[in-house]
Amino acid sequence: MALTAEEVAAQKEQTRKQWNANPCGQVGDIEYSPEYFENVEEYRYNGYGDWMRDFYRYDDHQGVRLLEVGFGQGTDLVQYAKGGAECYGVDITENHRELAIANFSSRGLNAELFLEDAADLHFEDGYFDKVVSFGVLHHTPDIEQCVDEVHRVLKDGGEFVISLYHKNSAFWWFTKFLKEGIFKGKLLTIGYSGLKATIERGADGKEIKPYVKLYTRRSLRKLLKDFSKVEIHVKHLYGKNFWPLGRLIPKPILRALEPRLGWYVIARATK
Ligand SMILES: C[S@@+](CC[C@H](N)C(=O)[O-])C[C@H]1O[C@@H](n2cnc3c(N)ncnc32)[C@H](O)[C@@H]1O
Repeated sequence: MALTAEEVAAQKEQTRKQWNANPCGQVGDIEYSPEYFENVEEYRYNGYGDWMRDFYRYDDHQGVRLLEVGFGQGTDLVQYAKGGAECYGVDITENHRELAIANFSSRGLNAELFLEDAADLHFEDGYFDKVVSFGVLHHTPDIEQCVDEVHRVLKDGGEFVISLYHKNSAFWWFTKFLKEGIFKGKLLTIGYSGLKATIERGADGKEIKPYVKLYTRRSLRKLLKDFSKVEIHVKHLYGKNFWPLGRLIPKPILRALEPRLGWYVIARATK
């Protein structure tokens, strides 16, 4: 059932509450210093997602006019800027914008960063060569409208790279649903939508309950129906996702299972 405008606005308020309190990818205490942003970057690409640099090829964006939807602390956008892109970003969380501005200025790089909802972009039609969004639009109940806006601001032949949480993943079914939902009883105390909200660090699924929707290869493809070419990937699988087997699973098996059971379902879509 479609949400009312007030319900959508309330969900977005929860989003701001979550990330104003818990900046995404925070490492240690928040500091507006070059060392802090370097630590965030180090953890992101060498701890959290060791596949990301190879997959997104940040270095290869000379002269590309690029928009990031939901830039967070600006960690990925900084990589695109280092790779030669002309960078723009939108995000609805005030703290994230302040952190991202500090991140860019600590490196002497430029980006135009707006406090703006992806559902209502101010850019003119066909302005961008590329739009990217990592771990963002599964938090917004009006995702279809956001995708329409992305389609509008892309040039013909432009590329949209979108990464969303994957429902058919080891992390969701083993770690969240089985371990926390059933074994620890959270499905009874905070329910299904509460359990999904606790995917986010600092969210308790009650007081802080950001909206989370999980996607499959099929539902992501459906979302991108207006794009001419869509290529889907699934990435991000680690032994710790398979509770309670943990680190018993050998690396070659993890590599073979990643395209089915990884935590991110990703599309490269061409307008
Ligand atoms: C999980 S964080 C990801 C941030 C960053 N992409 C990263 O990977 O570190 C989700 C971000 O999406 C932003 N966001 C959620 N809904 C949005 C919307 N409708 N328009 C713009 N930004 C949105 C939030 O404010 C938050 O900064």
